[in-house]
Amino acid sequence: MANIAVLGAQWGDEGKGKIVDLIADRFDVVARSSGGHNAGHTVKVGDQKFILSLIPTGILRGKKGIIGNGLVVDPAALLREIKTLEGLGITVKGNLFISHRAHVIFPYHRMMERASEDTPGKVKIGTTSRGIGPCYEDKIGRRGIRFAELLDTAGFPERFRAAAEEKNIIATALNIHEPWDIEAILKEYQDYAEQLRPYVTDTIYLVNQLIRQGEKVLFEGAQGTMLDIDHGTYPYLTSSNATVGGVCTGLGVSPMLIDGVVGIAKAYATRVGGGPFATELLGDAGNALRNAGNEFGTVTGRPRRCGWFDLPLMNYAHNVNHLTTLVITKLDVLDYLETIPVCVAYKYKGEKLDFMPALPEVYEAVVPVYEERPGWHCSTAGIREYDQLPQAAKDYISYLEGQLEVEIGCISTGPERDETIIRRGSKFAGFLA
Ligand code: IMP
Repeated sequence: MANIAVLGAQWGDEGKGKIVDLIADRFDVVARSSGGHNAGHTVKVGDQKFILSLIPTGILRGKKGIIGNGLVVDPAALLREIKTLEGLGITVKGNLFISHRAHVIFPYHRMMERASEDTPGKVKIGTTSRGIGPCYEDKIGRRGIRFAELLDTAGFPERFRAAAEEKNIIATALNIHEPWDIEAILKEYQDYAEQLRPYVTDTIYLVNQLIRQGEKVLFEGAQGTMLDIDHGTYPYLTSSNATVGGVCTGLGVSPMLIDGVVGIAKAYATRVGGGPFATELLGDAGNALRNAGNEFGTVTGRPRRCGWFDLPLMNYAHNVNHLTTLVITKLDVLDYLETIPVCVAYKYKGEKLDFMPALPEVYEAVVPVYEERPGWHCSTAGIREYDQLPQAAKDYISYLEGQLEVEIGCISTGPERDETIIRRGSKFAGFLA
């Protein structure tokens, strides 16, 4: 039995989608535990390319897909994805299961987010504007509406009106003037409820039952460790737990049932939105890396901020998640470099820091200490065998392994599924056996 979690070790966008797609065949179920439609995987079916944000990509391969209790779900976005998949002839009904405990995003969540992001003087997070944060705020504030309430035909109108009236009072107090029609939204959501009713179930019971029956579950992470609400670069992060603990709480599974944790990291680093990024490259060097890696957001199209691989950050991610194996993606993007700087430590006010600072001001002000690794300046694009990598690229991989004390079991050398090296004898390969 092997139930595996695939998690981002940096700031999201590490290439989890490709790795999940690559290995999903070996699993029976793909389950999401956190986030919402702020995440995004570009998926290719034949010649068609589209983005899935909520539905676990395993559904494309006929696997069961679970949207766990830890997610916040915009029903309109979910229905759009279902429709797209059905239009491509993919069976969704009977394969997709939504937790009755997952929280529902309403238009007032997006409104609250816009108001917060646009308020002069307030910290601007640079969110994806999907209403994710305000919906999680309502969840933690114990005033959210879950699918269980949405589907409760008798009780929902009352609950929704009360929640919406409360938001109206807040909006007025905050001087937000976005007219919205409570009764029209109520009707819209009653309609969504009926369309989604066949998919909603007790996924906690379901996932545990499937595991007991011997089915293998792939826990598909969203975002990344440094965007985790507890462990990331607070407050510049998302509002959920993107680390391994979130898999347990966001699906109702015991840690005893997770047999391995696969961390995904780029061979360099990127982030979107605001917040400190110690190894960020600005100017021409940043543009060169961005263009080489085609670093533009899947969900929002924003240019991603780019920088060098950061060992203290990765060590921290390893501590939080206890990675069994690490996947390095986009190795080929570094092909053009003469030397590759790797951040080995931070300095703050002349002192060496041995930990990730909690204060964003401190993390913003740290000076990275770099070690220059030799580049290979030849193409590694599409290489599938470790032995075929140039020696300097192998040395780069061994160096990272040594520094992080975790194996690098898989290396991605291009966007296609087969542009991947799976290292023989690695724990990663073992999970797929
Ligand atoms: P939110 O999740 O929309 O509230 O956005 C909060 C922060 O997390 C912003 O900096 C976003 O850019 C970032 N973020 C959220 N989801 C993702 C993702 O899937 N990949 C990368 N960054 C993300």
